[in-house]
Parts: sequence; structure tokens; C-alpha cells
Amino acid sequence: AGSPAGARPLVGRQVVITAGGTREPLDPVRFLGNKSSGKQGVALAESALAAGAEVTFIHGHMDVPAPAGVKAQSIETALELRSATLAAAATADVVIMAAAVADFRPATISTGKIKKRDDVADPVIKLVRNPDILVEIVAHRAAQNRAQLIVGFAAETGDSESDALSYAQAKLQRKGCDLLVVNEVGPGESGTEKVFGQDGNRVEILALDGAGTVQAAGSKREVADAVVRVIAGRLGSP
Ligand code: CTP
Ligand code: CA
Repeated sequence: AGSPAGARPLVGRQVVITAGGTREPLDPVRFLGNKSSGKQGVALAESALAAGAEVTFIHGHMDVPAPAGVKAQSIETALELRSATLAAAATADVVIMAAAVADFRPATISTGKIKKRDDVADPVIKLVRNPDILVEIVAHRAAQNRAQLIVGFAAETGDSESDALSYAQAKLQRKGCDLLVVNEVGPGESGTEKVFGQDGNRVEILALDGAGTVQAAGSKREVADAVVRVIAGRLGSP
């Protein structure tokens, strides 16, 4: 802090940020989507830009525009997000997966608009699983044996079996990313409404290597600044 390098710790760094929600088509006019607003991803991009990074911003549907100053790429489906992200990640110093990725997509996409008909049964939508992009990025890094910081995001709720943070720890181990930014959605708060589309936020940043958990609260930009600080601290000087 104070020196130009301290104020802009990501100068010379390539950062890939995914944001917004994917949409999985059912037919030419319909899709399965989610409530992601894209705001946290935009805040992360602004924060990374302010820190001097070169930002590739790969985004699905968002309620807000992509920020100025990024290299923006728009995608619809999880499979499109996957190819764009894997390509961009090949040369990136940091990959931040803030996008809300559909876990499943319709097994088939109807070429014509699905119609209601009185002479046949109502349709049942069969879903197939999408690839886990975060896990693939981690695998690619391992295969290339190169330095790259990989950051995941998760919104977790607790239940009768375990609390939100234990679920988050298990997810961090499963994914193998370096950091997992966890939005803890407490009991009594109405799940998705608490996180999606809101301007405020409270997160814990968990580290795979066991480094202490960092807590951050405030606007999405303040949370983003905290995430970028942790990232910059881990990267050190270029
Ligand atoms: N993610 C991904 N590819 C997917 C699903 C999720 O890259 N197909 C990423 C998200 O962008 C996020 C992280 O994985 O950074 C955690 O997403 P989350 O939905 O919490 O994890 P899942 O493994 O899908 O677990 P869950 O069953 O709880 O949804
Ligand atoms: Ca999921």
C-alpha cells in the first residue's frame, strides 16, 4: 500500500473472470436459467482492473452491463462457457469462476417450439449433467504443471446434517481450487433471494492450503476488493 506497485498489485497479470448465469435451451424460444445478476462478477472485474490486471470477462446472462475496460466475451450455455474459459485460462495467471453454471442441461433441444397438445401426454424434460468447468481448469493446470491461481465461488446453506461452512470445506476439497469464496446463507434467510441480485454481501474466503479463512462483508465491490487483495497477496511480485 502507498507505493504504485502496492496500489496496483495485479499490473502485468492476466485475470479471467466468469460471471452471470448460463442459459440452457429447451427449444428455439425457451431455456432453463438461473437468478444470477452478474453483479459480483462485475465488481470483481472492476476490482481487478483497479489493481492493474488485464481482465478477460466471460459472461452469461446478467442484469447489469459488462464493465468498461475488460475484454468481454458473451456466452449462453455451460458448454459455451466451458470452451471460452478453458481457452482463456491457457494463458491466465488467475481464473475466477463467479458464473452461476447450470449443473444440468436438457438432453435434447427441440428444433421446433414445444407445443401443448391434448392428444399426447405433457412433456417431461430429461436432463443431463454439464461438465464441471472449475474441476477441468484445475486438471488442466496440473497437466501443464504451471503456476495459476484458481478461485471458485459457492453459496451454501446448512441443514440438519452439517453447517454451511463444512459443506463449503468439502466442496473446496472436491474442486481442488486454491480459494473458495463462500456466501453463507443462514437458516431462516430465504435462500437464493439473500444472495442473488442483492447489493450487499458477506463471504468467507477458504484456502485449500489451510491458510486462515478471510472474512469480508459489505458491498459486492468491497467483497471483490477483499478477494483481489487475497489473490494479490498470494501472487506476490510478477
Ligand atoms: N462450477 C463450474 N462448473 C459447473 C458447476 C459449477 O465451474 N458445471 C463452478 C462455479 O462457477 C463455482 C463453483 O463451481 O465457482 C461452485 O459451484 P456450485 O454450484 O456451488 O458447485 P457444484 O459442484 O455445482 O455443487 P452443488 O451441487 O452444490 O451445486
Ligand atoms: Ca451447482
